[in-house]
Amino acid sequence: MQFPLERPEYSSPPLARADLHSDPVAQLTTWLEEAGAAGNPLPEAMCLSTVGEDGGPASRMVLLKGLQPEGLDFFTCLESAKASHLAADPRACVDFWWSSLHRQVAIGGQVEPLRRQVVEEYFQSRPRGSQVAATASRQSHESSGRQELEERCLEIEARFKGLPIPCPDNWGGFRLAPDRFEFWQGREDRLHDRFVYLPSEDAGAWRIKRLDP
Ligand SMILES: Cc1cc2nc3c(=O)[nH]c(=O)nc-3n(C[C@H](O)[C@H](O)[C@H](O)COP(=O)(O)O)c2cc1C
Repeated sequence: MQFPLERPEYSSPPLARADLHSDPVAQLTTWLEEAGAAGNPLPEAMCLSTVGEDGGPASRMVLLKGLQPEGLDFFTCLESAKASHLAADPRACVDFWWSSLHRQVAIGGQVEPLRRQVVEEYFQSRPRGSQVAATASRQSHESSGRQELEERCLEIEARFKGLPIPCPDNWGGFRLAPDRFEFWQGREDRLHDRFVYLPSEDAGAWRIKRLDP
């Protein structure tokens, strides 16, 4: 397959040091809002990278479901590959890309499991079909086939007819507590603007450095 030599040309407004919030979570919140307003259908989709048992990297998309000063929350099956990775090594990175704004944000840190009450509350807020699927699926394990999976869903629907579907024990969530944020704004001729936030010596504060593109 051949790809065009130079694409796309990034022609967005500059990102200057003076434009940045001192708090990276506030900066991320602004960019998420702007990405949604610019028509990105799923601005909260992020690529999550973990470290596998063999020390190798692994990436997949997940949805950001909570953002607060303490970190970024996402939910998943606790028997999945990603959850096994995170149980053995809590280091993780997430990466957002909003193509219409030519913006990327890369965040690194360590995860901790979300409290069970938070997980159960979120599970109960999900559409019923998603609850059934999460109950039926042992994510990342070899499947016994599409038909058997669909039959398991029907059996779960019948078992809980008229009742709430309980949050499965193997379903949970994680909070990524960040120790690095990078905000990237695509610019003409690949002279992009990049700013990294790193923890400063004053607890809770961040220092900001510009990086070469
Ligand atoms: C846009 C998008 C959002 C997704 N969101 C989630 C999510 O929030 N949680 C989740 O467990 N899987 C989500 N998935 C599926 C994962 O990418 C992945 O296939 C699954 O979690 C198994 O990953 P693992 O085997 O590496 O653990 C999403 C996929 C896409 C494409």
